[in-house]
Amino acid sequence: MKVLNFYYNLLEEPHILIAGATGSGKSVMLNGLVFTAACCGSAKCQFIFLDKKRVELCQYKNLRSCITYADDDQQMIEALQQAVDIIETRYVEMQSRGQKKYTGPALYVVVDELADLMTIPVVKKQAVPLIQRISQIGRAANVHLWVCTQNPLREIIPTSIKCNLECRIGLRTASQQDSRNIIGVAGCERFPNPRTENRANAYIRRGADLDLVNIPMYSDEEMENGLSQLAKRIVIAPVKPLVPHETESMLKLIFSPLLWLFGLK
Ligand SMILES: Nc1ncnc2c1ncn2[C@@H]1O[C@H](COP(=O)(O)OP(=O)(O)OP(=O)(O)O)[C@@H](O)[C@H]1O
Ligand SMILES: [Mg+2]
Repeated sequence: MKVLNFYYNLLEEPHILIAGATGSGKSVMLNGLVFTAACCGSAKCQFIFLDKKRVELCQYKNLRSCITYADDDQQMIEALQQAVDIIETRYVEMQSRGQKKYTGPALYVVVDELADLMTIPVVKKQAVPLIQRISQIGRAANVHLWVCTQNPLREIIPTSIKCNLECRIGLRTASQQDSRNIIGVAGCERFPNPRTENRANAYIRRGADLDLVNIPMYSDEEMENGLSQLAKRIVIAPVKPLVPHETESMLKLIFSPLLWLFGLK
């Protein structure tokens, strides 16, 4: 049998939907993506985390690139609104520069379980238009959604959002129908149970392509080491101020009469 190793950069996918039954490996997959983006992606990438379970993504809370970590309903809505505001600001910037695509850092909006936002009607009412907006206009602004869900049904993931999450990662599902709802065909229901088999398979659907893959899992130790290395990463000093603020104002104070004298001020 010919074994093919292939690689593609999921960090560049516009938006990703990761779905599968409980224990199918969604959080492991999501953690792998975040960890890879944080360690190997662009040094300037940013994250907004929505983690109602409070345990799946909390290790990234103190990352320099984490601009928001939300773990309750109100905070999660505010975090989504913040992502929409960032997109809109980026569009204004793109417009003023005459660009069609934002060339600054990628922003990943990471949702560990979409059902957390969709099961309480008042929260759902606010969340749906925001997620929909991010999924519709985020791409050009280099803002990407990574969303997990146990349940790929319409009540949890409205069609208006689902149709924009074009890259689908189907892990083990409870039924053939769930597999079809995620990747368009049956197959995910036959995957081994990662909890008992210590491995996870997935189908990745990108447009017409459907690939069967093994999902890697970082050990806790690898994660801890990686994150502590990241925390130590040297920050490139900003160009300004070249002199400390106080010295700078002192210099201004001393030199401004001279500048005025020479007509430079
Ligand atoms: N890629 C993998 N390789 C090896 N083991 C895995 C992998 N993915 C998951 N597992 C095993 O399965 C367990 C459950 O995975 P995970 O917590 O990611 O599931 P989940 O889909 O997020 O579940 P839930 O819907 O309940 O949140 C892990 O703790 C791990 O033991
Ligand atoms: Mg999970």
